[in-house]
Amino acid sequence: MQMAAAMAPSGQVTDEVLIDIDRVTQVYASAGGAVRALDRVSMQARRGEFISIVGPSGCGKSTLMMIAAGLLPASDGTVRVGGRVVDRPQTDLGIVFQSPVLLEWRTALENVMLQAEARRLPAADAERRARSLLAAVGLAGFEHKYPHELSGGMRQRVSICRALVHTPPQLLMDEPFGALDALTRDQLVLDLQELWQSERMTVLFVTHSIAEAVFLSDRIIVMTPRPGRIAREIVVDLPRPRTLAMRDSAVFHAVSREITDFFLEQGVLRERAAGLSR
Ligand SMILES: Nc1ncnc2c1ncn2[C@@H]1O[C@H](COP(=O)(O)OP(=O)(O)O)[C@@H](O)[C@H]1O
Ligand SMILES: [Mg+2]
Repeated sequence: MQMAAAMAPSGQVTDEVLIDIDRVTQVYASAGGAVRALDRVSMQARRGEFISIVGPSGCGKSTLMMIAAGLLPASDGTVRVGGRVVDRPQTDLGIVFQSPVLLEWRTALENVMLQAEARRLPAADAERRARSLLAAVGLAGFEHKYPHELSGGMRQRVSICRALVHTPPQLLMDEPFGALDALTRDQLVLDLQELWQSERMTVLFVTHSIAEAVFLSDRIIVMTPRPGRIAREIVVDLPRPRTLAMRDSAVFHAVSREITDFFLEQGVLRERAAGLSR
């Protein structure tokens, strides 16, 4: 439908670089002295690509998302989206955070429409799209429920729909499933894959979960402990759509293993508690 011209006919990732993060460094001033959160991070996302960013707590993942969204100016380096330097909050994107931040006095549909109203999109079209997004994530019939009537997983689904109602070419997600139980996460990961396959937005997906990253991504960016630098970029060569059974495949294991080994090497993971080693 939208952006058809920019897409390869098969809906594959194109070679066009949509997001270009070029040597981004972030230093925060804090009471205890300067904190270097990011150190010359460079990465690119092609249009339609699904990229996960995996790294230990505190390595600057959220900082990178804020800079990419134009919500925080970088201490150094540049972000370009579609060739334009990001120097102010971007409007042409969707963001999903760990907590869904819905307005309690608005229904699911009205929460999704919030974004459309703020952008003054034609109401009838926007509502049609909002309803179809809600249906796509299994919320048909829940349009008129209030947030307190929805489970955590459903609330997060609403916030994903809200982030997509204006059909942004890029979606930034910062640990969106971090607060959900394991089964709900599995379901949302499947729903997100389906949504991405039909919408083909470019996704930067921050997660702690190696399995989630492998399942969803075309490419995984692995970051070092603070100051966050990019340590590895791993292409996940599994066919789409991915199925839960693929988590048992050799490719899935090999990629998970590579990331796990890197975190062990970096001391992010320890196989034996120090006090218990003999
Ligand atoms: N506004 C801030 N002022 C000072 N330090 C900050 C600020 N925001 C984040 N930090 C520090 O920068 C580092 C990276 O933070 P963050 O981007 O939130 O990491 P992550 O999302 O990977 O856990 C952390 O050490 C954090 O404490
Ligand atoms: Mg974070």
